[in-house]
Amino acid sequence: MTGTDNTGTGTGTVLVAYGTTNGSTAEIATAVADVLRTRGLTAEVLPARSVTDVARYDAVVVGGGLYAGRWHKDARRFVRRHRALLKERPVWFFDSGPLDASASERDIPPVRGVRRAMDRLGVEEHITFGGRLEDGAKGWVAGMILRSGKGGDFRDFGAVEKWAQGVADALK
Ligand SMILES: Cc1cc2nc3c(=O)[nH]c(=O)nc-3n(C[C@H](O)[C@H](O)[C@H](O)COP(=O)(O)O)c2cc1C
Repeated sequence: MTGTDNTGTGTGTVLVAYGTTNGSTAEIATAVADVLRTRGLTAEVLPARSVTDVARYDAVVVGGGLYAGRWHKDARRFVRRHRALLKERPVWFFDSGPLDASASERDIPPVRGVRRAMDRLGVEEHITFGGRLEDGAKGWVAGMILRSGKGGDFRDFGAVEKWAQGVADALK
């Protein structure tokens, strides 16, 4: 990868861009970046909608919350807007969604739109992490889900760390 010196210490800059409504995907993105940094990479975490320049990054991780079977719109727009530059870089995708233990128990395939984006960009790696929905979440549907007792925090930060280590290993 460009920006890697010959001492075995990666010096490339990785962008971790996320689309979130209620903040839980942002926290996963931060955890991913923390692991990359402990592995000697430089990582920047940014809301996907605020990224203007992808050219300055050597690799990109894109994460999005799942809403009604789709990736968060900021993640979708990010991928559309920066398609040409993303195609030229190693890219990883993650989702945060299921409000149960399923994501910790088995691999959850990407939703259709994410699969399509992966095919277009040549993205190999994708993972779905559990989600979080707790009091204070935006929107009446969120309120309904919470009232029906289906909220909670199902994010598995051990799994996030392990996945991010794989990203770091691939980049070194
Ligand atoms: C209106 C609504 C729709 C949702 N739809 C899905 C879905 O289709 N698939 C899924 O796995 N999780 C779904 N979830 C759960 C969210 O993906 C989960 O809460 C996620 O962690 C939200 O990310 P965020 O906090 O970054 O916005 C939904 C949650 C809400 C409130």
